[in-house]
Amino acid sequence: MADGISETKSSNQMWGGRFASGPDAIMEEINASIGFDKKLFAQDIRGSIAHATMLAHQGIISNDDKDKIVHGLDTILSEIESGQFEFSRRLEDIHMNIEARLATLIGPAAGRLHTARSRNDQVALDFRLWVKEELQKCETMLTGLIAAFLDRAEEHADTVMPGFTHLQTAQPVTFGHHCMAYVEMFGRDRSRVRHAIEHMDESPIGAAALAGTGFPIDRHMTARALGFREPTRNSIDTVSDRDFALEFLALASICAVHLSRLAEEIVIWSTPQFGFIRLSDAFSTGSSIMPQKKNPDAAELVRAKTGRINGSLIALLTVMKGLPLAYSKDMQEDKEQVFDSAESLELAIAAMTGMVRDMTIRTDRMKAAAGSGYSTATDLADWLVREAGLPFRDAHHVTGHAVALAETKGCELAELSLEDLQALNPAITDKVFGVLTVEASVASRTSFGGTAPSEVRKQIAWWRARN
Ligand code: ARG
Repeated sequence: MADGISETKSSNQMWGGRFASGPDAIMEEINASIGFDKKLFAQDIRGSIAHATMLAHQGIISNDDKDKIVHGLDTILSEIESGQFEFSRRLEDIHMNIEARLATLIGPAAGRLHTARSRNDQVALDFRLWVKEELQKCETMLTGLIAAFLDRAEEHADTVMPGFTHLQTAQPVTFGHHCMAYVEMFGRDRSRVRHAIEHMDESPIGAAALAGTGFPIDRHMTARALGFREPTRNSIDTVSDRDFALEFLALASICAVHLSRLAEEIVIWSTPQFGFIRLSDAFSTGSSIMPQKKNPDAAELVRAKTGRINGSLIALLTVMKGLPLAYSKDMQEDKEQVFDSAESLELAIAAMTGMVRDMTIRTDRMKAAAGSGYSTATDLADWLVREAGLPFRDAHHVTGHAVALAETKGCELAELSLEDLQALNPAITDKVFGVLTVEASVASRTSFGGTAPSEVRKQIAWWRARN
């Protein structure tokens, strides 16, 4: 086999009796999952060791057989880890591959391992363990990304930049505040990860094919041994659902969408036209023909990975839709989507963490842009309300005239003369110039969650205590 998967024994031989012949080649090809579920080998072995240990503890198999099984499984683990294990496609999946090898290694005792379980609860267990570990990895990686943003936010709590709505200059904000917006987003992503772990923290093993078993198993014992909070409570549900995988894909999609927005901002900010940031050489590429170029390829690829991840969510939702209870083979199609999304998400978070830590913030460019586009117009209107007692709508109107006048004169609001402003409204005094600078504008936004440096520092402290 091109992929190193051999074609020796077939799984039909494993269940013997009823099957007189092996499967058609096409049957084998459509049926086999070993090409991708071999990724679950460590979880499969861990689950089998816990199961065998419990069976012996309950007197369902002998201690002697249990010892042989555990020893054989340990051997298989090191064979796989060292690349010596020969995976066979004719044995369909990781479960049958390991069981067949166990039989070769330890003989008839291997046949006792499958007492009181089925591949249905076995695969549900292996996959749950895998997704749980992946979620724990995501939690750590998101913590790293949040930490990178907290550092940049602290460094730039006073750095003024234009804030945008509709990608049009709206009001001055601080770069620290903008960074903290991402901290909030990735913080929520991380709590979705934590909730998902909590939701899925139940052990499937012992549900057997769908109905449970008549053997006196102890599902609490296996749950404990495998690090689950408790066993699942309904054997039919246990082998039927893959909502833990869907939850992973859903939270991965939301997180990927957040990452894509950051990626897009990095792409925009790093253009010569904006020039708000300079990407490090480590996270950009050159052009083969245009020597002046520095391309934000990593950011673009993070933006694009979102497509794969969102696609995986839709794919698995569609696989699961309308499936009758309990297990159906359709569910074998759950793994590739999750594996691919996990790899993409990890890569995207890692690349973003690197970019955020490495990028140079061009404070001069940000400040210059912050003051252009009449970004302090709202401050003028607010001043008229506060100091001259105008209703906000009238203040808005007067300010509109001031902006139009500045536009005709080709200057900024702060560059209009006092006479010009008084011609628009006689109540205006020279104190108004105190609010027309971008620094004064951001410093005044002290409402809870606002952009004032003092407020941003409070939010940073709040997050530092929780990260
Ligand atoms: N490879 C299968 C899967 O991933 C394992 C479970 C097979 N169960 C069965 N009843 N055929 O879903």
